[in-house]
Amino acid sequence: MGRLAILGALHEEIADLLAAMDPGATIHRIAMRDFHVGTLWGTPCVIALSRIGKVAAAATASIVIHEFKATRVIFTGLAGGLHEDVAVGDVVVATALMQHDMDARPLFEQHEIPLLGRERFEADPVLSASLLESARQFARTHAGLPDAAGLQPPRVHHGLIATGDVFVNSNDYAHQLRQRLPEALCLEMEGGAMAQVCYEFGVPYAVLRVISDQADHAAKADFTDFLMNLARVYTAGILAPLLKSGALRAA
Ligand code: ADE
Repeated sequence: MGRLAILGALHEEIADLLAAMDPGATIHRIAMRDFHVGTLWGTPCVIALSRIGKVAAAATASIVIHEFKATRVIFTGLAGGLHEDVAVGDVVVATALMQHDMDARPLFEQHEIPLLGRERFEADPVLSASLLESARQFARTHAGLPDAAGLQPPRVHHGLIATGDVFVNSNDYAHQLRQRLPEALCLEMEGGAMAQVCYEFGVPYAVLRVISDQADHAAKADFTDFLMNLARVYTAGILAPLLKSGALRAA
């Protein structure tokens, strides 16, 4: 049975999953990262903290595929909302990912990944459908969300995610990105790099993001607050039932 890799950029984004791994899990340290190998509710998994940014995500994705033979990769974590329909507390599952900071003009088109001849990397439809279904179920039950958070019940979106090595916390920058990428639902710093690596290895992948901020002047405070108080509620609330259902066990 193939192993599922679950990656996150920050500890809070994967903490509850790590805690739920079966006691027999082993830790392998490669390239200054810990790879937790074992089973999670019966699904063979490798879970790792990538750290933040495209290089970190690419290195981690390469290792889970090459060293740990992951046959599917899920990246989970927070994102800044970009599209006007996307609010703090909403969930985004990627249809595709792109790298908004890739710009090799005039040699290649803006956003085109040089010598790969593409700008977007499509997420796996089957894996993404499982994440969407579980996210919708989470949204319906509003499971476990502290009332004090004052958030609306989460809405679930399916669309383009833009990745770059920038934590966007400026109204002007967010506005520019919105103009340049009207389709992009949210911004984060790893998914597009992991997607490129998975594409190059031919390994299916999906990305699940929870909106922590609006990529504006308040992004730092909103992000930190969401990370400390809610990130794990969402990650565990969406991924745990999916893993428990056995839907990710096959392949
Ligand atoms: N992840 C969460 N919020 C973000 C933001 N504002 N910019 C980039 N990545 C993010």
